[in-house]
Amino acid sequence: MAFIDANGQKLFYNQKGQGPAVILVHGFPLDGRMWDAQVEGLSGRYRVIAPDLRGFGQSGRTQPFSLEDLADDLHGLAEKLGALPLVLGGLSMGGYIALAYVTRYAADLKALMLIDTKAEADTTEAKSDRMKMIETCRAGGAKAIADALLPKLVAQSSGAHVVARAREIMEYCPPATIENALLAMRDRRDYRCELPSIAVPTLVMAGREDALTGPSTAEAMLRELRHGQLAIIPDAGHLSPMEQPEKVNQEIRAFLGEVG
Ligand code: MLT
Repeated sequence: MAFIDANGQKLFYNQKGQGPAVILVHGFPLDGRMWDAQVEGLSGRYRVIAPDLRGFGQSGRTQPFSLEDLADDLHGLAEKLGALPLVLGGLSMGGYIALAYVTRYAADLKALMLIDTKAEADTTEAKSDRMKMIETCRAGGAKAIADALLPKLVAQSSGAHVVARAREIMEYCPPATIENALLAMRDRRDYRCELPSIAVPTLVMAGREDALTGPSTAEAMLRELRHGQLAIIPDAGHLSPMEQPEKVNQEIRAFLGEVG
């Protein structure tokens, strides 16, 4: 675990293992700790890097940003760590950022993993929900955001320890970062038109019980990909890597084994 200055940001990251570099990008409003089980479980064969995005976790606080800024941070981090070309995986918001990365740094990608995420932009209704979430955050801080989100994120069958860990990470998120991220997600572009031109192997994964970006969303992305493959994780919701770490690690290992 260490800090690095990349793209003008002080970023914290967890890194373990040797071999091909795999960078895992967390969802909202989480941080790199959501990937602890992947860092442990995959580092026998891969160099696994799980950063805290700017403003999140232990990374430096920041002004408003776009998802493209966050993709630039990841590229800066990977360059500084000598981790290019890389396999990039992202969960939900992390998936949006991975798609932003594709549009800017396709030549530096070996493979892509889009986990519990989607390619389309926010609808008008979703944009207005972002503003309501900002009000919720201003009134009740990160705890109120965790209260609002957690019931939608985790499958019924997932243990209380998963909910407790996700809550702990979410409540650590600074309210200013929650606002910045909500605005960045609200203003993100539609990445669907990029999917057919993705030239690298792409794993699309979703928890079977993901209430936000479930199997049908994953299948819709898969149809647009030239080199896509699908993994549906049973007994998991939107936080599948935390809910079913071993099943997710098995799918990632199988995918990366094929990618070589
Ligand atoms: C996430 O898990 O990162 C969020 O559900 C993404 C979003 O709010 O669109």
